[in-house]
Amino acid sequence: MSQRTKIKALLQSQQTEIDVTVKGWVRAFRSNRFIALNDGSTNNNIQVVVDFENTDPALLKRITVGAALSVQGKLIASLGKGQTVEVVATDIEILGDSDPEKYPIQPKKHSLEFLRENAHLRFRTSTFSAIFRVRNSLAFAVHQFFQERGFVYLHTPIITASDAEGAGETFHVTNFDLDNIPKTDTGEIDFKQDFFGRAANLTVSGQLEGELGAMALSDIYTFGPTFRAENSNTTRHLAEFWMIEPEVAFNDIVDNMDLAEDMLKYVIKYTLDKNADDIEFLTQRLEEEEKTKPQNERSEMTLLEKLQFCLNNDFERLTYTEAIQILRDSTPNKKKKFQYPVEGWGTDLQSEHERYLVEKHFKKPVILTDYPKEIKSFYMRQNDDGKTVAAMDILFPGIGEIVGGSQREERLDKLEQRMDEIGIPKDELWWYLDTRRFGTCPHAGFGLGFERLVLFVTGMGNIRDVIPFPRFPKNAEF
Ligand code: 4AD
Ligand code: MG
Repeated sequence: MSQRTKIKALLQSQQTEIDVTVKGWVRAFRSNRFIALNDGSTNNNIQVVVDFENTDPALLKRITVGAALSVQGKLIASLGKGQTVEVVATDIEILGDSDPEKYPIQPKKHSLEFLRENAHLRFRTSTFSAIFRVRNSLAFAVHQFFQERGFVYLHTPIITASDAEGAGETFHVTNFDLDNIPKTDTGEIDFKQDFFGRAANLTVSGQLEGELGAMALSDIYTFGPTFRAENSNTTRHLAEFWMIEPEVAFNDIVDNMDLAEDMLKYVIKYTLDKNADDIEFLTQRLEEEEKTKPQNERSEMTLLEKLQFCLNNDFERLTYTEAIQILRDSTPNKKKKFQYPVEGWGTDLQSEHERYLVEKHFKKPVILTDYPKEIKSFYMRQNDDGKTVAAMDILFPGIGEIVGGSQREERLDKLEQRMDEIGIPKDELWWYLDTRRFGTCPHAGFGLGFERLVLFVTGMGNIRDVIPFPRFPKNAEF
C-alpha cells in the first residue's frame, strides 16, 4: 500500500513544495481543471489542480462526482481564493469509476428524506460526514470520562430472558421454525424446546446486569446497543439504539445527578474542542434550516450558543410535584394550548410538557426527580412519603428526555413487596434479588440515550439521521 496523507493533515501542513499522495472521492470537478477531493477526515476538500492540456481526455472524462481517486502531486501554496494549499497533480489514478448518470449524490442540496433512502451513500455528504465524526468523538469522550474516573466498562448481554423496564417492548429471540412452532399439551408455545430452553429477547437495558457488576466493582458502565419494539414513529425513537448506563455502589440520587450532569458537560466540551469545524458547519446548516421556518418557531440561540449555554449553566433541579404545579399554572395550559392537558398529580408528562419546562419556563436543561412510583420501574428506591420514588429524568431543549435513572431499591423487603404489587416474577429475577440478600448497599445509576445526545450536539431534528443505519417500524434496510 502506498503512503497517503489525510486531507485534514494536508490542509494544516506548514510545509509546501513537497510530494504528496492523496486519496479520496470526488465531490466536484469544474472547468476540467479543479477537483474537490474529500476523504472524510474533515469536511473541507483539498483542491487538486489538473494539467488538463497534458492529461489524456479519456482519463479526464472519468473524473466524475463520486469517483475514487489516487492522486500524486506537489502540495503548493494556493494561488486561488478559498484555500491556503492545493495539490498540483502529476499522476491521477482512477480507483473506482462513478457513473454520473446513475450516482445519486450530486453536488447540490438533497433532502434528508432522500438521503435516508440512500443511507449507504449519505456518509459522502458534508452533513452526514460531520454528524458521524461528532458521533465518534462523543463515544470516545464517554469512555474517556468514565475511564478517567476509574469505572470498569462492563459488557452486559444483548440476549437476555428479562425485560428490565417491565414495559413488554422486547423483540423475541428464537430459532424455532416459524411455520412449525412446538406447543405444549395445553397449547402454549413450548419454549423448553427453543435454543435457550426458555423465552428469550433482545435487551432493553443492561441495567440489571450492570447492578450485579457494581455490587463488586463499585463503579461500572455499559455502552452497547439496546432494542425496543415500541411502535413509536417519532423523531426521537429508534427500535435499535445505543445506551450508556453507569451504575455506582454507594451513590445516592444526588451523586447520580451530579455524575450525569458532569458527564454530559464533559462529552459536549470534548466534542466542541475536538470537532470545532464540524460543529461550525452544523451550526450553519441549522441556521439555513431555521430560515425556512416561521419567525416564532425559530430558536433564539444558534447550535453553538446552545451547546455553550449548556456547559456554562447548572441544570435546574426540581421535583415532579413542583413541575406539575408549574405546568398547571402555565399560560399554554390555561389557554388550552397543550395537545394533552396537564392531568392531575400521578400522570406521566407528555413530551410537550417536558419541552415547555425546558424551552420556555427554565430555558435550560432540567432534572426532574421524585416521580410517582406508579409511572416508574419496580427497581427505583421508594421515598418515605410512600408515594414517590428516587427517580431522575434529565430533559434537554429540543429533545425532551435524554437521561432516565434512579437510586435503586436496595432493601430486599421493599423491593419484593413492589415486585409483588406489580406482578414481576421474583423467581425469574432470583439473581437480581441475591444482591439484596448478600451485602446490599445503596447504589444508583442512569441510562443516557446516545442518539438523543448526538441529536442535541449536532442540532439535527430526526434521530434517524444520527445513527448510521436506523431501525424503526417497517424499516431494516441496509
Ligand atoms: O428511561 P429509560 O427507559 O431507562 C432505562 O432503560 C434504565 N434502565 C436506565 C438506567 O437507569 N440504567 O431509557 C434511558 C434513555 C432515555 O432517557 C432515552 O434517552 C433513551 O434511553 N431511549 C431511547 N432512545 C432512542 N429510542 C428509543 N426508543 C429510546 N428509549 C429510551
Ligand atoms: Mg425513561
